[in-house]
Amino acid sequence: MNQGKIIILAIESSCDDTSAAVIADGVILSNVVAGQKVHEEFGGVVPELASRAHQQNIIPVVETAIKRAGIQKNEISAVAFTNGPGLLGSLLVGTSFAKGFSLANNIPLIEVNHLKGHVLALFIKENGIEYNPPKFPFLCLLVSGGNSQIIMVRNYLEMEVIGQTIDDAAGEAFDKCAKVMGLPYPGGPHVDKLAKTGNPHRFVFSQPRIPDLNYSFSGLKTNFLYFLRDNLKGNENFVQENLADLCASLQFTIIEILINKLRKAAKQTGINEIAVAGGVSANSGLREALRENAAKLKWNLYIPKFEYTMDNAAMIAITGYFKYLNGEFAGQNIVPFAHTEI
Ligand code: KG4
Repeated sequence: MNQGKIIILAIESSCDDTSAAVIADGVILSNVVAGQKVHEEFGGVVPELASRAHQQNIIPVVETAIKRAGIQKNEISAVAFTNGPGLLGSLLVGTSFAKGFSLANNIPLIEVNHLKGHVLALFIKENGIEYNPPKFPFLCLLVSGGNSQIIMVRNYLEMEVIGQTIDDAAGEAFDKCAKVMGLPYPGGPHVDKLAKTGNPHRFVFSQPRIPDLNYSFSGLKTNFLYFLRDNLKGNENFVQENLADLCASLQFTIIEILINKLRKAAKQTGINEIAVAGGVSANSGLREALRENAAKLKWNLYIPKFEYTMDNAAMIAITGYFKYLNGEFAGQNIVPFAHTEI
């Protein structure tokens, strides 16, 4: 059935999700993600615990991915893995596993940049679902827990960051503000849910004045923290009594900041193929704002399927596939990097 197909097994272990996926000629066959509950009680990811959990998860996750894909190990053409950016200890687990797998099965090794993976998630094909990827060149708003960037995507493997955060990422702003409201980690999805019943114009928070296409979220975070502190002095139940409005107003501000620069980028470049990627692209308010802007400004908008927005190995597999086609392979001396550019 898979004869002649290029089959990529991919591993993603850059943060706190252990994931493995299999794709054949760009069509997804399996995508398995094991989260790590161990961090919840700490209100954030603890790097040492993350790498230990990856070590426990990686073999069962890979075995499940291969089984669900319905393939044999000897059908795999290459093994791809995330080599950064991310937590070094976590990356090392995936890198070491991929190297071992490559040696043991005598197949090529492909290193993948995690951020490129988020962007190329837009090109994952699914059996029975219409394939409608963006056309080159397109602009991609990449918003995750660690990044907020506007990327000019010229080709599958040719990308340029034209704007990025100078401090916190959008996901960090969601998570840190959620934390001061006492919401569980990661706070982004909780803020999204609570915002649905709140008034986004009830509270006004500060927006940065940053030149060019860059972002900044640290001012908003501080503004939000001081606002809560001041109001809690007069009413210790201020947060509980206003939770939905606080979430809605915070989310509204983050979305305004993100969309304003994206509009500026589209205008400056004259590009109307617009995509969004990364964990924060799961945000319902952001998706709605993007759709509104697309209708108004005649953008062709591309939003990845929900399961491919969060950290997952399917996006590493599709990137690995394009690198395979391009003949870009890594040697056994490859090492992961905590910080790497796209
Ligand atoms: O892409 P991702 O899974 O990991 C990184 O590579 O960073 O993104 C995780 C981030 C977290 O900050 C999380 O709070 C945020 O994405 N997030 C959301 C939503 N779902 C996930 N933020 C806002 N609204 C959501 N629905």
